Amino acid sequence: MKLASLWLIFFIGLSLAANPSRLASSRLKQSVVPPRQWKKHSLPPPDSRIELRIGLVQPQIHVLENHIQEISDPDHERYGKHLSKSEVEDLVAPSEHSLELVNAWIDSHGIEDASIIRTPAQDWIIVDLEVSLAEKMLDTTYHVWQHDDGEFIVRTSSYSLPEHLVDHIDLIQPTTMFSRFSNMRTTLYKANELAFDRYQTNTGHTNDSEDLTPSLDTQPDCNHTVTLKCIQTLYNTAGYTPDGRSRNSIGITGYLQQYANQEDLRLFFADQKSGVFNNVSFNVVLVNDGTNNQSSQRAGDEANLDVQFALGLSYPTPGTFYSTGGNPPFIPDSNTPSNTNEPYAKWLDYILSQDDPPLTISTSYGDHEQTVPEDYARRTCSRFMELGARGVTLTFSSGDDGVGDGEANPKYQTCFKNDGKNETRFLPVFPSSCPYVTSVGGTRGIPEEAVFFSGGGFSDYFARPWYQTEAVNGYLDKLGEHTYAGLFNRYARTSMFPFAYPDVSAQGVNFRVFIGGKPFLVSGTSASSPTFAGIVALLNDARLEAGLPALGFLNPLLYKRGAEAFNDITIGHNPGCGTSGFNATEGWDPISGLGTPDFEKLKEEVLRCP
Ligand SMILES: *[C@@H]1O[C@H](CO)[C@@H](O)[C@H](O)[C@H]1NC(C)=O
Ligand SMILES: *[C@@H]1O[C@H](CO)[C@@H](O)[C@H](O)[C@H]1NC(C)=O
Ligand SMILES: *[C@@H]1O[C@H](CO)[C@@H](O)[C@H](O)[C@H]1NC(C)=O
Ligand SMILES: *[C@@H]1O[C@H](CO)[C@@H](O)[C@H](O)[C@H]1NC(C)=O
Ligand SMILES: *[C@@H]1O[C@H](CO)[C@@H](O)[C@H](O)[C@H]1NC(C)=O
Ligand SMILES: *[C@@H]1O[C@H](CO)[C@@H](O)[C@H](O)[C@H]1NC(C)=O
Repeated sequence: MKLASLWLIFFIGLSLAANPSRLASSRLKQSVVPPRQWKKHSLPPPDSRIELRIGLVQPQIHVLENHIQEISDPDHERYGKHLSKSEVEDLVAPSEHSLELVNAWIDSHGIEDASIIRTPAQDWIIVDLEVSLAEKMLDTTYHVWQHDDGEFIVRTSSYSLPEHLVDHIDLIQPTTMFSRFSNMRTTLYKANELAFDRYQTNTGHTNDSEDLTPSLDTQPDCNHTVTLKCIQTLYNTAGYTPDGRSRNSIGITGYLQQYANQEDLRLFFADQKSGVFNNVSFNVVLVNDGTNNQSSQRAGDEANLDVQFALGLSYPTPGTFYSTGGNPPFIPDSNTPSNTNEPYAKWLDYILSQDDPPLTISTSYGDHEQTVPEDYARRTCSRFMELGARGVTLTFSSGDDGVGDGEANPKYQTCFKNDGKNETRFLPVFPSSCPYVTSVGGTRGIPEEAVFFSGGGFSDYFARPWYQTEAVNGYLDKLGEHTYAGLFNRYARTSMFPFAYPDVSAQGVNFRVFIGGKPFLVSGTSASSPTFAGIVALLNDARLEAGLPALGFLNPLLYKRGAEAFNDITIGHNPGCGTSGFNATEGWDPISGLGTPDFEKLKEEVLRCP
């Protein structure tokens, strides 16, 4: 009797040692209500695979937050003292103990080293495995989900972790993330309807007011067609040309098989830059099996717009276009890999592994914040912070749907919270809602007004950072206590005030760009972000020439010193979610931010900073 129970204990001990996860109890890590547009479709095909990203807990991340607060504050003695790649990596690394436990867990499931990728800091472990094994490890069941528009993804609405790992793992994705990064909306507003040769097939629109003759020999009317010259005059950069000797650089990100076309850039320069440089070009970096098709038929409207204006404004600053692959359509009845990660992660893996990333990088993609689980949004935002701490300025377009869906009529609005209750709510856009990027809204015309589609609002995830308090309070006082009560996050759940965006704005309507050899007029905050990035690149050039460090994370400087250096935009509003949206006002507002840049004034300010 006695002997038998001893043996029993021995066997339990043995099996525990051999397979610690088997008997360990698991604890629910996350459970979400998927956005209403997604419906459960089927079980994933047998043998389908998934690439899990395991985000380990970062015990020192707050130290990095303290650093960036100091080095981006122009009044702090450490302003501009950016951290090196390895300093940042030390601060984002997990503890040795976490690593041991997580490695043992992965090991215990028989996963080969060849299927594992680790970021340099080991803050992310990326494991390629069968969905059935992921289900076992996360005590969950994956399904194929289908979006109302037909797209498929493989996700689950909840997952668990072994009890002993809960405090060592921040999150694992893709599990509960229902964002549409596989179909990130470019923030290019109605290019088709505004584009010249597509007018012919697009009844209901007139083409009488647009000048799209192949070459501009006279100064265009900047009120109707935005060219480099218009921007240079309007934002006061005409008197400044980099001499190309500083080690300045600018980057443009591209996703969704949007290719920037070299020949189109040359045509654009021939059209709009006097003293024609027909040998102008940019570097192309392929990330995550990205491709680069230079056929004129494949020239991307978004990619060309971004590259032409960012490089046109900052010439001869060397430019790099990142073509990030990923997200081939997932077909639920094939056994092709369900490559269902969002591509930001892949681009961030790549760029953070580089010793010298470009000093200014513009991105014109985004999605509603609520489609990205909060923990994942935080980790992604924190990786943008890593870049800022290393001296990189990131600009993002603020979105093209005003406060949500761009719909003023309550009958047709589609803004609903993912809480299962169908509550109407403004829909902030991520990554613009991340406090460590510079979000750029849109304006139009001369004199400038905020344009109706300009995205803006208040984050449901991120707290208001120190540098925004005064500007945003000023706006909220004007808005009044009860306006849009319940529609936006005036006081965050945590009783902290939320981060608000955009930070700044720039022209966003009727940009003349070349696509597939022909000029088009395109619009969107997609135009505003590369425009602002081009101006930041000029500011960086001035700083580097003066022997000063690059600007890096820019927002604190803009809010603290910028007010006088921006053209305040006080007309316009951004309808959406069945409301007329927010109004542009004196000072900061959630449609035009601080306003549009006056380069010469900003240059004076940034040269005054250490
Ligand atoms: C649009 O352009 C076409 C071709 O140039 C022209 O024939 C037509 O009259 C124009 N339509 C309008 C409404 O101006
Ligand atoms: C491009 O053309 C300009 C002007 O002719 C010249 O100064 C420059 O050296 C050329 N650059 C390259 C890379 O050929
Ligand atoms: C590039 O695109 C063109 C036009 O769609 C296509 O014909 C060609 O095969 C593509 N090239 C490559 C290498 O994919
Ligand atoms: C939310 O709206 C959808 C679509 O209109 C409907 O199917 C669903 O029943 C609604 N849910 C609730 C809780 O009202
Ligand atoms: C631009 O167009 C608007 C409306 O069409 C007009 O009110 C404004 O005066 C124009 N501005 C200039 C500088 O012509
Ligand atoms: C925006 O301005 C209009 C006109 O002054 C005013 O009627 C409206 O209440 C304002 N809306 C908000 C949200 O401030």
